[in-house]
Amino acid sequence: MRSSLRTHLTYWLTGPLLLLVVAGSFVSYRIALDAATKAYDSALLDPVLAIASHLRRTGSRLELDLPSIAIEALRIDTEDRVYYQVLGPDGELIAGTPRLPAPPERLAPEAHVFYDAKLEGERVRVAARAVKVEPGTAIVQVAETLVKRDKLVLELLVASTVPQLLIAFAAVALFWLGIGQGLRPLDRLRDEIAARSPRDLRPVPEQDKPQEVRALVGALNRLLSRLNAAIESQQRFIANAAHQLRTPLAGLKTHAELARRQPSTLELRSLLDMISGETQRTSHLVNQLLTLARAEPGEAASGDQPVNLHETISRDLRDWVQRAVGKNIDLGFELDDAWILGEPLLLRELAANLLDNALAYTQPGGSVTVRTGARDGESVLEVEDDGPGIPEAEREKVFERFYRIPATGGEGCGLGLSIVSEIAERHGGTVELSRPPGGRGTLIRAVFPRLAAQAAHAVLPVSTRTVPTSR
Ligand SMILES: Nc1ncnc2c1ncn2[C@@H]1O[C@H](COP(=O)(O)OP(=O)(O)OP(=O)(O)O)[C@@H](O)[C@H]1O
Ligand SMILES: [Mg+2]
Repeated sequence: MRSSLRTHLTYWLTGPLLLLVVAGSFVSYRIALDAATKAYDSALLDPVLAIASHLRRTGSRLELDLPSIAIEALRIDTEDRVYYQVLGPDGELIAGTPRLPAPPERLAPEAHVFYDAKLEGERVRVAARAVKVEPGTAIVQVAETLVKRDKLVLELLVASTVPQLLIAFAAVALFWLGIGQGLRPLDRLRDEIAARSPRDLRPVPEQDKPQEVRALVGALNRLLSRLNAAIESQQRFIANAAHQLRTPLAGLKTHAELARRQPSTLELRSLLDMISGETQRTSHLVNQLLTLARAEPGEAASGDQPVNLHETISRDLRDWVQRAVGKNIDLGFELDDAWILGEPLLLRELAANLLDNALAYTQPGGSVTVRTGARDGESVLEVEDDGPGIPEAEREKVFERFYRIPATGGEGCGLGLSIVSEIAERHGGTVELSRPPGGRGTLIRAVFPRLAAQAAHAVLPVSTRTVPTSR
């Protein structure tokens, strides 16, 4: 019952309906039975009257002046046995069976009564009449067994109950269908909410909902807006904290550098080196946190504009090449136009984190390839390396915040891939992690809904595009 509103409602409607059916059947059965009893009773009175009209007085004796063949004719019935009895004014038996009981009440002359009795253990219906036979009154009674009456009772019972039961079943089926139909807005609401992306905390439209659902949607919307406010405030806090930490960290970094240039002992120098390295890592962490806070939902996607992923990569190309050369990594670019609608700064962070990983985790002498391009309906950015690769079992975990594969070297804080997936999701895209076709290393591909080049050009002049650089 608890699991389904529909079942619950159907139960609630079916119970009272069945009660009504039972009561209705009973009433119509009683009415029909009364009418039938009256008809049978009046038929039972006919032989009583026939016998009464043949009572004669001869001298002081009262007798029934009816040949036995006529009496038998009166008693004929296809289904029931019929008995008769004539009692004189003093209660003496004039004719018929002695075994019938006396009428339940004293009868006035020419009055009659019907009653139920038992004759040798068998139920009978009796019609009794007082007949004037000066002096005094005689009692004529005719009784019949109840075979045809019982049969009629059963027929009436069936006739009054079956149609009502059929109607009741039909009604229950209609309830079931009708309630299902009535609950459709709830199904639609469920679909509407299920179809949302987890980061979509916009209020659910209320106007098109039925009144009963509107209250629920209203409550849901209030919850969503509180949730939104809570997330925003948390993000603001992280962003502010990271922002506030940046300046003192920059100061610390400068001072550590200055201190290192001063003449000092070996020990002091190595301590200063440590301070410098840790400051470096801390400011990397703060920068990553800030990027994450910016990428998260809640921040209005205000700055969306047509972006060519090709150009996003090209912007920082020199830095990447320098880093790759420094580590003796063969860095190649296969860049084609890949237009999407998005925030240039965030997309740059996305690319930076992917390239940073590839350059950081690929061994010297390895190679890294960056590709951008468009295919049907999608714009793609992928970074492939032939480094150590990411084991199958870690492929989901590496997207968790602060997760690093155990024993990973380098200075990372485990936020890079979370940032990548946040930014991709924010742009309606996805990130796929696999092994390159060569079988060694890592291939990470960010796929976005493609923006048609014409649409992009309409907003952005062609001249701002950079020349593609290839290996
Ligand atoms: N190209 C790659 N090759 C091998 N391992 C990788 C690669 N990219 C990521 N990983 C593994 O996944 C982990 C998570 O990567 P992620 O970029 O999220 O964090 P990080 O690089 O450790 O720190 P951060 O990027 O925040 O500085 C890394 O610690 C590393 O173990
Ligand atoms: Mg990283």
